[in-house]
Amino acid sequence: MLQVNSTSIGLSESVRTRAITLLNMHVGSFTDLYVQVKLAHWNVRGAHFIAYHELFDAIAGRLLEAQDMMAERAATLGGTAGMTVQEAAESTPLPVWPLAVRQDRDVIQLVAERLSQAANAIRKDIDTAATLGDADTADLFTEVSRQLDKDLWFVEAHFSA
Ligand SMILES: [Fe+2]
Repeated sequence: MLQVNSTSIGLSESVRTRAITLLNMHVGSFTDLYVQVKLAHWNVRGAHFIAYHELFDAIAGRLLEAQDMMAERAATLGGTAGMTVQEAAESTPLPVWPLAVRQDRDVIQLVAERLSQAANAIRKDIDTAATLGDADTADLFTEVSRQLDKDLWFVEAHFSA
């Protein structure tokens, strides 16, 4: 574990250390998720190309904003923010993006699976952070998972009813 700096924030070092670890885990998985959504943005083909191409880019942009907020919370708590691409590749829970899949209806299904996996992992850590006593990190995880849920709605709304 990297050094945790002291701060006047009224949370103990052990709470901050555990919150930093949680935050950085999601920062790392978002590096993977961001690239996967960009791969979908670049490679999708089919009748719905332009709608999906543009939607995936908008989602990718929101992922970067969410990642930035989580990394900066880790820094706020006195931690070293984020992880290297190599560390992210080792720790990401997401399945490898299948580059051979390019058909729009298949790509959108894969994007939905990835978004829901990330949303559910962060949702689980709302309670973890709250139990630690870090309500602000819990609130941030709530905000990020709510945004992921909304993006999942945008994606799933393309499925036939
Ligand atoms: Fe683009």
